[in-house]
This record gives sequence, C-alpha cells and structure tokens, in this order.
Amino acid sequence: MSTESKTQPQTEHSVLAPADHDEFARQEFVRSYKEYLVHNVHQGNEKRYESSVKPAFEKKHNRVPRDRFEVAKEMTKDPYYQMFSSLLRTSQEMMWSSCQLPVERNLEELNAKINQVPGGSVKGSLKLDKNLATPRYHKAVDIHCQPGGYHNEFTNNDASSGMVYDRAVHIYAMAQLGPYNDDIGASIIMWLKEKYPEFQPRRILDMGCSVGHSTIPYAEAFPDAKIYGIDVAAPMLRYAHARAESLNVPVHFSQQNAEETNFKSGSFDLIVSHILLHETSEKAIHNIIKECHRLLKPGGMMAHGETPPYKNMGPFDAFMLDWDTRNNNEPFWARSHEIDLYRLSEKANFDPSKKIEEMIPSALQVAEARRSEVFQGGDFGGGGLWFVYGNKK
Ligand SMILES: C[S@@+](CC[C@H](N)C(=O)[O-])C[C@H]1O[C@@H](n2cnc3c(N)ncnc32)[C@H](O)[C@@H]1O
Repeated sequence: MSTESKTQPQTEHSVLAPADHDEFARQEFVRSYKEYLVHNVHQGNEKRYESSVKPAFEKKHNRVPRDRFEVAKEMTKDPYYQMFSSLLRTSQEMMWSSCQLPVERNLEELNAKINQVPGGSVKGSLKLDKNLATPRYHKAVDIHCQPGGYHNEFTNNDASSGMVYDRAVHIYAMAQLGPYNDDIGASIIMWLKEKYPEFQPRRILDMGCSVGHSTIPYAEAFPDAKIYGIDVAAPMLRYAHARAESLNVPVHFSQQNAEETNFKSGSFDLIVSHILLHETSEKAIHNIIKECHRLLKPGGMMAHGETPPYKNMGPFDAFMLDWDTRNNNEPFWARSHEIDLYRLSEKANFDPSKKIEEMIPSALQVAEARRSEVFQGGDFGGGGLWFVYGNKK
C-alpha cells in the first residue's frame, strides 16, 4: 500500500523488466527532469499569464479572459509557455523510450517469464478473449504517446505494453503514486473506509485495471472479497496477472470492454475505476456508467477516480490541466472533464440524489509524504487530491 515517502523507489517484483546500469540512469534522468519541469519551470507559466498575457488581453478587450479557450488562444503564442510545453512533450517521449529499452532488449525472455506465471502457484486467474474488438478510441491514437498504445502486440502472447507501462507510470508520476504505483486505489479505499465504515463489499470490480496497480490494494483492504479486474488490452492483462501472482495477491482478470461485460446483472457490491473514463469517448463513458448500474447489486456503489472537472476551476488552471488534450494524445481528456455528472447518473438510471462528487485526499499525502502541489499538466501530476465521481444504487 502507498504509505511510504515519495522518495521511495519503485518496489521490485519478479516481473518488472530489469534495467541495466545505463538504462536505469537514463530512466532516473527522465524522472528528475520531469521533477525539474514541475518544480522549477511550470510556475513560470502563471507568472507570464499574470504579468503579461492577461494584462494584454484586458487592455484589448476591457475584461479578463472568460474561459480556457480564450486563455489558450493567447498563452499558446507565448514563448515561455511554448518552451515549457515543448520540454514537457519531450520528457514524455523520452520517458517511453527509456522504458522500452530494457523491454525490447530482452523481450522473448521477459514474455516467457510472464506467460509461465511466476511462483507457479496460481491464486487468481486470467481469461483473454482474442475476439474482443479493440474500441476505436483506443486505436485512433497512441494514447498519451505510448508507442503502440495499450493493445498492440509485437510478438505472440506479448505483454510488452504492460512491462513498459509499469515502469513508465513510476517515472511519469515522479514516484508520487508510491512504490507500487497504487495511490489512486489506496486513496479511494482510505476514503471509503472513513466515509462508509459499515460498507464491506464482497465482490469488487476494477474497470480498466491496466496492469493492476490500483486493483491490488482492494484485495489487501478487503481480504474476504473476491476481486475482479477487466481491461480491453490483452498485453496489460497478461502482465497484470503475472504481477499480481508474483505479489501473491489473488485477482481474477479478464479481457472485457467495460461498456458491455459478460458478468451477470447484480454481480458486484463495489465497482471502481482509476483514470479510465477520460481515456474513453463520451459515448463510451455513458455506456460504462449504464453498465455499472446493471452490474451493481441494490445498495452497491460505484466510484471512479479521476482528476477534477473544470467547472470549479479558473480559466488559467483549466487551460493548464488541459495540456494533455492538446499535446499528449489524450483526445477525450477535455470533454471528459466537462460532462454533466448529474445527467450522466440520471441517464444510466441511477438516482442522482445518491450521486457522489468529491475531492479526496491522496493516501500518500496523508501518510505525510511530500507531494507536489503543482499540476504537471497530466493525470498523475499532483495536487495531493483525487476527484471521485460515483453513485450509490
Ligand atoms: C490509464 S489506464 C488505467 C490505469 C489503472 N486503472 C491504474 O489505476 O493503474 C486506462 C486503462 O483502461 C483500459 N480501457 C480503456 N477503455 C476501456 C474499456 N472500454 N473497457 C475496459 N478497459 C478499457 C486501457 O486498456 C488501459 O489499460
């Protein structure tokens, strides 16, 4: 669980792709380069906005910018912002390539290890479905610049996207998701236990579980519950299964689209997701919430962890948080932060008076690790808080 200081390195486990000396040095360089951008360069954008861009706008229009679009029109012409943006995009590309190197060098051996399931004592399970269609919103771009995205396979039974992702998340988050990259799951659990101490879910589903970073804490927090994780991408699931087994945690993974799963109605007490929704289309989000309604038992709950919607932010902050839409192959990011959550619940047949919309503290932050107060301009960027949208049924 995420209770250690942010300076903790990523915890080694038997399927993490080992980096040699130079590869590790390169990855650590990218991590500290990202930290430098966040702590030393990012703030300059607001200074430029307040001291130059906003006053020029006010002079011309006799008012301040009304929304993030007006801010974007001016800020994207500003040389300081252009420099910051270019450096951040470069850091993203450097991150992926630094994580690909140790994987590509040793792909056959790493895949063999993952596919044989480390430890030999299978506690959870893995069901893949080679006929499952990959949604268009997955295939249209290489999401957040990950070469090949989540779903591409470069060889038979390939798990390389999962291997690359596990290491890259640690670097992208600048170690701020904790040594197991699990802060979003750990934060939702901490909030659930505090706010709903009586709630003891027996069947839990994590949608868009990826390599299981946020899934595993649920198995630890609710040891009597059966934990399921679904994802559309086979390479992520192969890795997730091997990782969970190597950490000795029983999780049942299956390759399914969260918009329409094969679980029976009323199968779960708790359905969670962690930074899934913003990577799907608006239509898919509506389908996913409808599916949550079908899958939940009466009295059950869904909770989706994300970064906060734009509605409570000033135009400048919304513009900065929107960096990923414009620069990091996150085409649905902006729209997902603007969806009317009341309507979303209502259209999925939830009672919107039981809707949950809350900013919750990061578990790592509460453990008194120092966490960045600054948005990097991305989903793991800091702020010390996560946003939860959910509903009780
Ligand atoms: C940002 S990652 C999620 C990270 C993960 N939940 C965590 O906390 O570490 C998004 C994941 O959602 C998956 N995904 C996207 N659309 C999906 C869908 N419709 N159904 C199931 N999984 C989906 C992607 O394959 C990817 O693995």
